[in-house]
Amino acid sequence: MPPGRPPAPPRPGSAPRRPLVVASNRGPVQFEVSEDGSIEHARGGGGLVTGLTGALSSAGGLWVAAAMTDGDRHAAEHAAGDMEIADEDAKYRVRYLTPEAERFDRYYNVVSNRVLWFIHHYLFDAPRTPRFGRAVRAAWDDYVAVNREFADALAEEPGEPAFLVQDYHLSLAPLMLRESRPDALVAHFSHTPFAGPDYFRILPQAMGDAVLRGMLGADVLGFHCDDWAENFLLCCRHVEGARVDLRRRRVEIDGRSVAVRTYPIAIDAPALRRQATSPAVRRARRELVRWKGDAQMILRVDRTDLSKNILRGFLAYETLLNEHPRMRGRVRFLALLNPSRRAIPEYRAYTRDCLRAAERINAELGTPDWQPVTVVVRDDIDRAVAAYSLSDVLLVNPVFDGMNLVAMEGPTVNRADGVLVLSRNAGADALLGRHALSVNPFDVQETAEAMYEALHMRADERHRRAAGLRRAIGANPPVRWVGSQLADLERAAAARAS
Ligand code: G6P
Repeated sequence: MPPGRPPAPPRPGSAPRRPLVVASNRGPVQFEVSEDGSIEHARGGGGLVTGLTGALSSAGGLWVAAAMTDGDRHAAEHAAGDMEIADEDAKYRVRYLTPEAERFDRYYNVVSNRVLWFIHHYLFDAPRTPRFGRAVRAAWDDYVAVNREFADALAEEPGEPAFLVQDYHLSLAPLMLRESRPDALVAHFSHTPFAGPDYFRILPQAMGDAVLRGMLGADVLGFHCDDWAENFLLCCRHVEGARVDLRRRRVEIDGRSVAVRTYPIAIDAPALRRQATSPAVRRARRELVRWKGDAQMILRVDRTDLSKNILRGFLAYETLLNEHPRMRGRVRFLALLNPSRRAIPEYRAYTRDCLRAAERINAELGTPDWQPVTVVVRDDIDRAVAAYSLSDVLLVNPVFDGMNLVAMEGPTVNRADGVLVLSRNAGADALLGRHALSVNPFDVQETAEAMYEALHMRADERHRRAAGLRRAIGANPPVRWVGSQLADLERAAAARAS
């Protein structure tokens, strides 16, 4: 190697060189105390957990998260430190932090999910909300405190690990960690969209500034797609002392250089395909086949989140049935909704509104032997996978979404050459839009027409598009998402050393 030239960064996907320390609000496993008093755990699904636990087991390291359930708290208090997780395919340590309950509530339910989540998904009803007063400022202090707790836990890790901090819950932790460990190698990844600069300015200025500066404490900032990365850069133009290079996607601040990059997350497609052959999924599929009869099936699978646009999805379906009365009795809409964030009043009200809309459509358009919409509000992954495999149309129409994994999961196990109707405001559209029917999620008419087109698409075109979706999804394995971030961190380390 020529003198002075830094070592080449590892290829994405190659084994990580240094230990990893992951931080996220929700941990990779959920603990439960079983009847005999023993503590058991179940692993969360999704590409994030698969990608990161895989990398953690090969590099060694720790995952720091917040206790979310009584079981988590019990396990954390019982262990009083790190816990070893040994699953069949991954072995790593976890540490669950246990902030005081009210503090956690204000950090999670108020600042993270009612303020920052709303900002990044454009969810406020601007003439009326938000109304930032003293309460939100008090909650902000708890947000700062929990971020501090995370940063302190990370700073305790010895050696020179790569720190991988996840999401809007922990936007302050990178700078806090940097202050105690100036040489730390830190990446922060946003799984949400990032609001554009005008909308971001809804935040009280001190909070907005703290969020941006906090994230800029990292060496590498990751987003699911270019639009969110660009929005972040545009927001940073208002940070005093920061120099933003939009073309090179870098921010210079406090004598450091921060790379702003796009790393689209992936799903664990082989694991999902294996799950699709399990007895539980087969059973659920048999039930759904009976339920569906000869009708075509439109499917949606979502958390009951305001960002998912469930209500407009129903209205679009209603438009389709009104404009094409011949479709009545020939199509069924299945909405599988996973209850989410029920402590937040807006979420409860939204779920109620969605259910009422479905009931109204059923009452107005249904017949004794045909119910237009079936809504199931339950966390049932086996039923979701079974439904994915059978659906003719998968509707994924979020208002805004960082990526959206349903758009990847559905086509991976679908056996009916199902068509994807996909919001242009989902990060997934950058990856899959070519093979989907893309829609403006606010345009109910366009969404109705796309669903109609999907239901009537010629078999060869459906086949071509379904194959395209599977190819695009398969070309992006979870190891690449982690590997590319680690490669960029090594580049940052090399640049710092030179
Ligand atoms: C989004 C966020 C994640 C979060 C998930 C579920 O995907 O980016 O950080 O874990 O929603 O939300 P919850 O509040 O239940 O953790």
